[in-house]
Amino acid sequence: MANLTTSLVVLVLWLSLISYAYNVHATRMAHWPRGSSTRFYDFKIQTLKITKLCNTKELVTVNGIFPGPVIYAQEDDRIIVKITNETPYNTTIHWHGVRQRLSCWFDGPSYITQCPIQAGQTFTYEFTLVNQKGTFFWHAHVSWLRATLYGAFVVYPKPGVPYPFNYPYQEHILLLGEYYNKDVVQLERATIASGGNPPVTDAYTINGHPGPNYNCSKNDVYKIDVVPGKTYLLRLINAGLNSENFFAIANHKLTIVEADAEYTKPFTTDRVMLGPGQTINVLVTANQPIGKYSMAMGPYSSAKGAAFQNISAIAHFQYLGAVTNSVSLPAQLPSFSDNLAVKTVMDGLKSLNTVNVPKEIDANLFITIGLNVQKCQSKTPNQNCQGLNNGVMAASMNNISFIKPPISLLEAYYKKMNGSFTEDFPGVPLKFYDFVNGAPNNIPNDTQALNGTRVKVLEYGTRVQLILQDTGTVTTENHPIHLHGYSFYVVGYGTGNYNPQTANFNLVDPPYMNTIGVPAGGWAAIRFLADNPGVWFMHCHLDIHQSWGLGTSFIVKNGEGVLETLPHPPADMPRC
Ligand code: C2O
Repeated sequence: MANLTTSLVVLVLWLSLISYAYNVHATRMAHWPRGSSTRFYDFKIQTLKITKLCNTKELVTVNGIFPGPVIYAQEDDRIIVKITNETPYNTTIHWHGVRQRLSCWFDGPSYITQCPIQAGQTFTYEFTLVNQKGTFFWHAHVSWLRATLYGAFVVYPKPGVPYPFNYPYQEHILLLGEYYNKDVVQLERATIASGGNPPVTDAYTINGHPGPNYNCSKNDVYKIDVVPGKTYLLRLINAGLNSENFFAIANHKLTIVEADAEYTKPFTTDRVMLGPGQTINVLVTANQPIGKYSMAMGPYSSAKGAAFQNISAIAHFQYLGAVTNSVSLPAQLPSFSDNLAVKTVMDGLKSLNTVNVPKEIDANLFITIGLNVQKCQSKTPNQNCQGLNNGVMAASMNNISFIKPPISLLEAYYKKMNGSFTEDFPGVPLKFYDFVNGAPNNIPNDTQALNGTRVKVLEYGTRVQLILQDTGTVTTENHPIHLHGYSFYVVGYGTGNYNPQTANFNLVDPPYMNTIGVPAGGWAAIRFLADNPGVWFMHCHLDIHQSWGLGTSFIVKNGEGVLETLPHPPADMPRC
């Protein structure tokens, strides 16, 4: 018996050593991890000097790699990531799509679940991937730092559990991003101070590479080498900041098999659209004549009159045997305003199996989402009121623009500290009107929102239906709305104002997502069971909209017993 225990201890030690050694050398190559069920990662947040587009700057990333290191794990693994902030910037890391079952303290959004990790400080995130597998990503959740502080997070099924599709020959991660020549923290500050719109990105990127369409970027191209006849799994992640994007490969079909880290029925399409925060896995078979094919990422910009980067990022899908310096066949992307192309992909998303959607609803919420223009209050309007009609740009949910509190909401709630938020976020708009074509206030052209840190409280176990309704107050626009702490069933969506009489719901096999692109000038209906206690941010994943206040938070109360109760905070929780 003693012998067996000793050898078990040795085995466990040995396995964790292997896993540690592996993690340290994690690369962007796909692999199938085995061994220990606890995975340690050491993340040093550092600045890195980089030259791109003939411009040299310091960007913030992890361990000197850009995009940052990949986290690999298996379903039900425990993840421990020690963060050491070696930069002068406040930071936090969010594990996008991880439901953080009973671990809200480690969710990461700054001033919602924690104070930022300040310069020189450390904080260790610790959570379990309960019933979760697929493609996730991690990103900074403070100011606009996530423009460069991001990386993939790949969770494999448990040992011996196959994918629900033929095993691909190889897997590749494709992180779609936006690259800014200027310091993004300063850019956010300057944009907010101006009251106006944000600058457009200098380049889109695929795994950090803009590709040949931009200045000084001819050789800064990401490439996948493929063997003719083989099938590849591509893990697409939109880690961009302020734009939604189409992705396509020249002459190749994409078969969607997973969205937001949940399997879908296979759906074959020529292109996909991902809002920031969305992930899609596609299978691609190299069944075309030997050659070099473009993989392209371009804009989907649904807001009227908004400026955007129109040059596509290009990577190469290159067959073995192709002439290396041949030109690549161009990929066909939809036009930037092609709402139908977006709808077609959405229509194709169904959960792989029949799912258990809440049929009865306890909380029927209706939340409008959109932009606002606040009246200029500044004594220097030329500098600070560069928004529409000389106002200040803002955004809101139910016409309340979310102001981040000075301390973390979760801490304030947990310690019953008063004063930093109110519990009166309305479950329906303060006023019903023609959301798509009208304005929220009595005077038809008064587009102001209220300001506040208002949250919505839910009892443990509430079955929630939430209608997200886009407004045309400033312009209609597709908003990628992300909910922390949960995945939700997207049971319906449509254009125009939501009408319960005519809305069609899928309660059989709706997709289970964490970020929903609410159609421009339309609505989406989502359902979830509020059974994870904590404070959960819900916001537009276009960062400028988040900065402008397009968000709110849910407080989900504890239920009964330890399995329904949020544990105490960790001792090393950062202070504000
Ligand atoms: Cu990926 Cu609150 O964010």
